[in-house]
Amino acid sequence: MKAGWTLDDIEWDRFDASKVDPEVVKLVKAGALVEHNGADYTDYLCNVFSDDPGFQALARKWGVEEVQHGQALARWAQTVDPEFDFDAAFTRFLDGFRPDVDATESIRGSRSGELVARCIVETGTSSFYSAIAESTEEPVLRQICRAIAADEFRHYKLFYDALRRYLEIEGLGRIGRLKIAIGRINETEDDELSYAYYAANLFGREDYDRERCHQLYMAPVYRNYRRQHMEKAVAMIAKASGIRLYEPVRRTVAAVMLNRIHRQADKFEGARAA
Ligand SMILES: [Fe+2]
Ligand SMILES: [Fe+2]
Repeated sequence: MKAGWTLDDIEWDRFDASKVDPEVVKLVKAGALVEHNGADYTDYLCNVFSDDPGFQALARKWGVEEVQHGQALARWAQTVDPEFDFDAAFTRFLDGFRPDVDATESIRGSRSGELVARCIVETGTSSFYSAIAESTEEPVLRQICRAIAADEFRHYKLFYDALRRYLEIEGLGRIGRLKIAIGRINETEDDELSYAYYAANLFGREDYDRERCHQLYMAPVYRNYRRQHMEKAVAMIAKASGIRLYEPVRRTVAAVMLNRIHRQADKFEGARAA
C-alpha cells in the first residue's frame, strides 16, 4: 500500500469471519486504542520541537497516520464484534493512561534522545504489524496490517533522519543512545499497552492487574514473531543506537532474542492456563 492510503483503500468486502483468531481480535482492539492516541503524542512532539516548524509539520502528518491506524483497526474489530464500543473503550483508556503531553522538554533528556525512543517505538510497531500480517489468514486484517507496517517503516525513517540532524547539533554518544533504546524497549512492560488491553477487553469484568494484562497481550504477540521480523528489528535498533552489527552478529543476537520471547510466550501462556 502506498503512503497516504485511506480506509477506502481497504477491501472490506473480502472479510472472512471463518479466518478470525479470537486472540488476535483482542490484540487488534487494544492496538486500536494505542494507535488512536497518536494525536496526544503529536502535541507532545510539537512542544519538544517547539522551534523546528519543519519537524513539527512532519510530526503532525505522522500523528494523523497513527490515528488512522487506530481507525482501521477499530473498524476491523467492529466488523468481527459489532458490540465493541470503540469510543467507550478509548475514553476508558485515556482515563487510566495519559502521557504527559504538556512537557516542553523531552522526557529522554534531549531531542536526540526523544528521536531514538521514537525509532524504537516504530521498530516495535513495524515488526508487530508485519508479524500479524504474515500470521493471520483473514484477508482484510492482513491488508490492514501490511498497510500499517509500511507506514511504521516510513515513520522509523522519518525519526531516524531527524535523529541524524540532531546528533550533529547535540552530539549524543552511542552509549547514551543505547541506554535510551534499551530503556524504551523495557517500557513495553509499562502501563500503556497493558492498560489498553484492559480497557479494550477486560474492563467491567475484573480489576486491572498490569502484569496479567501484559502477559495476556504479549503472549500472542511474541508467539507470532519469526526470525525475519527479529533480524530486521535488531538491525533497526542497532542503527538508531549508532552501533554497527555485522551480519553474523546481528543474526546471533536476533536468534537469542527470538528464543527469549518465545520462551516468554510459553511462560505467559502457562500463567494464563494456571
Ligand atoms: Fe501506528
Ligand atoms: Fe508509527
